[in-house]
Amino acid sequence: MVHRLFNILFSAALVQFFQAIPLQAQDQWSWPEKPENIQVLSKDWPGSRLRPVMTGFTRALGVGCSHCHVGEVGKPLSTYDFPSDANPNKDRAREMLRMLGSINDHLKNIEPSGDKRVNMWCHTCHSGRPRPMTLEEIVGETYKLMGIEAALEHYADLKENYYGKGAYNFGERALNALGYKMLGNEDVSGAIAFFELNAKEFPRSANVWDSLAEGYMRAGKMKLAKKYYKKSLKLNPNNPNAKDMLKKLREGQRG
Ligand code: HEC
Ligand code: HEC
Repeated sequence: MVHRLFNILFSAALVQFFQAIPLQAQDQWSWPEKPENIQVLSKDWPGSRLRPVMTGFTRALGVGCSHCHVGEVGKPLSTYDFPSDANPNKDRAREMLRMLGSINDHLKNIEPSGDKRVNMWCHTCHSGRPRPMTLEEIVGETYKLMGIEAALEHYADLKENYYGKGAYNFGERALNALGYKMLGNEDVSGAIAFFELNAKEFPRSANVWDSLAEGYMRAGKMKLAKKYYKKSLKLNPNNPNAKDMLKKLREGQRG
């Protein structure tokens, strides 16, 4: 599992490396006249018809050929074993093709409201991600398996590789939600780490400072809680929660 996570962590960087080498320039490899091991797509298709499908897969998932085939990133395609099924992602992709077929069949049961039927594609779900998870889910998974340092690093890595590509929503919601999830799990230090990063990412948002203040309040660090509620209130003088909490903190000090 951890090994797979590292694959995910670094696959984006490797894909960019791979894409830097034009397919033709790599070697003499060419699409096979007669593919040998086709189970879902049409067995009659020559390799030239597989080509747009395979490049479509790589684009939809944001990966290189080696994500599903036996072969090493950066090595010439002539060293790849394309008919082999040893890479488990190949069978996963086959199952996805079958699933997509049945989803599109199912969609025929409804009368579309627009003038054209909307078809589902690989990219409808994947949008350039090998595993179509939200930012919250994927960083949350890393946190659970490898701890806060790895989770924060994963966030930075994803932002570097995917920002502006529509695969993940890098708005303030993701880290905020992760922080509250940690608070819900009584993991106050984990929550504060996510809230701190969010405050760094969105220093103009009243909401993220309010969340950070709440984290510190839960940690019993009232001075910091007060400081950040004040900061939130300065950015949004109408933040009723910050007003309330500051009032409570002042009363707490008196009592
Ligand atoms: C998301 C997974 C995925 C990616 C990425 C992918 N492929 Fe495939 N490829 C498949 C699957 C699945 C099949 C078999 C389809 C079937 O059984 O109907 C296949 C079959 C093939 C075959 C036919 C092999 C044979 O002789 O049976 C070739 C050639 C091929 N792919 C080349 C490529 C190349 C080149 C790339 C990169 C540009 C690539 N593929 C990227 C999943 C993938
Ligand atoms: C309805 C949404 C949806 C569609 C459409 C879809 N996928 Fe997926 N795909 C998923 C989900 C969800 C997962 C993650 C499954 C898991 O690991 O629990 C996944 C996982 C995969 C994986 C495994 C990746 C990994 O690194 O673990 C491959 C390969 C894949 N999809 C290929 C495809 C291809 C190729 C298509 C188009 C033929 C496609 N998918 C269409 C939802 C979808």
